[in-house]
Amino acid sequence: MGNNSMEVKEGDVSQPESMDSGIEVCESSSLVAASRGDFRERILTGMRPSGMLHLGHYVGALEKWLELQKQYDCQFLIADYQAFGDHLKEIEMIRNSVIQVALDWLAVGLDPEKTSFVVQSYVPESAELTLLLSMLVPLGRLERNPTLKEEIKKIRGGKGNDGVSVGFYTYPVSQAADILISKADVVPVGDDQLPHIEMTREIARKFNRTYGEVFPVPRALVGRIPRLTGVDGKAKMSKSLGNCIYLSDEDQVVLKKVNKMYTDSTRVHANDPGHVEGNVVFMYLEAFHRDENELADFKKLYTDGKISDGELKRILASDLITFLTPIREKRAYYQQHPEIVRKALKEGSMRAKEEAKETMKEVKDAMQITNY
Ligand code: TRP
Repeated sequence: MGNNSMEVKEGDVSQPESMDSGIEVCESSSLVAASRGDFRERILTGMRPSGMLHLGHYVGALEKWLELQKQYDCQFLIADYQAFGDHLKEIEMIRNSVIQVALDWLAVGLDPEKTSFVVQSYVPESAELTLLLSMLVPLGRLERNPTLKEEIKKIRGGKGNDGVSVGFYTYPVSQAADILISKADVVPVGDDQLPHIEMTREIARKFNRTYGEVFPVPRALVGRIPRLTGVDGKAKMSKSLGNCIYLSDEDQVVLKKVNKMYTDSTRVHANDPGHVEGNVVFMYLEAFHRDENELADFKKLYTDGKISDGELKRILASDLITFLTPIREKRAYYQQHPEIVRKALKEGSMRAKEEAKETMKEVKDAMQITNY
C-alpha cells in the first residue's frame, strides 16, 4: 500500500477567520521533546470509543499510525469523555468499546511498549486544561467549526435524544486540551478533523501570546485515503450506517459483504464493457490489492468486458481475508489475555498523566494561578 500522506504545515490550512494574528512562539518542538528526555517528536491522536474498528479506520488512520510508531514518540488516545458527548446514556457500550478499541489496536500491531495507549478519563488534568482553554475560545469560533456543525445537525436530526449538550458543543476545546497537554508536535487525523486541529493551533498561539510560551503549535498530518466508502457505496464507512467490514469479521461475513457490493449498474452481462470509476469493488481493490500492475490489468479487462463482477469479487474477498486473518487471530489472543490489554491502558495512561501534570504546572505558573 502506498504512503503518500500529506503534512499540513504552517499556513497550509485555510484560516477560518483566525482569532489571532500575532507572531508565533514556541514552534520549535525539538526542545520540548528534549526536555522529555526524548528527541523524537511527539504525536498525539485518538479515537472515540463507540464500537469495534473497521476497514475505514485502518485505511484512514491505523495504517499510518503503525508507521508513525516506529519513528515518533506516540500517544494514542481513547477519548471516552468525548464518547459521552454523543452517547450519553450508553455506558455499557462505551465501557465495552474502550476495550474493543484497545483490542483492535493491539491486533493490527500498535505496540504499547513503544507507544502509549491513553484513556482520556485517566488523565483528568486534561479536563482541567479544557476549562482554562475554553476561556480563550470565542463562542463564534466554535459556531463556525464545520465538523462540529455537521455533527450537531446529525444529533438534532436524530430522534429520542436530549439535544446538543454544552459538553458536546465544546468537545473541540477538550480535544485541543488533549493535544496541547501532551505537547504534541504532530496530530495525524482524517480530513474531517482538520478544523479541530486548526482551532488547536489558534488556541496554542493565543495562550503562548497571552501568558507566555508553554505549547508547541502542532501540525496536522492527513492520511492516504482519508475516507473509505462503505460497502453500500453510498457514504463513508460508519457503524451507524451499517456499511462496515470490521477488522474482526469472520471470512464468511467478509464474503457476504463483498458479494453484496455494488459494481456497475449499467453492466448487465459479464461481457458488457464495465466502468471502474465509482465502482465500489474497485475502490476496495485500490486500497487492498497489493499488486498494482495486476490491478491495472483488472481495470483494463473490466473496461473491455473481459472479467466478470463475480470474478472480481472473488479476488477482492480473497485480498480482504488474507489481510484480516492475522489481525483476527491476534485479536483473539489478546481477548484471551485481558490482563495485557488492561496493563497497556493503565501504564500508557499513567505515563501520559505524569507529563500532563508537568504541563499543568507550567500552565498554572504562566497564568499565575498559584499561591494567592
Ligand atoms: N475527535 C476524534 C474523532 O472523532 C477523536 C479524538 C479525540 C482525537 N481526541 C483526539 C483525534 C485528539 C486527534 C487528537 O475521530
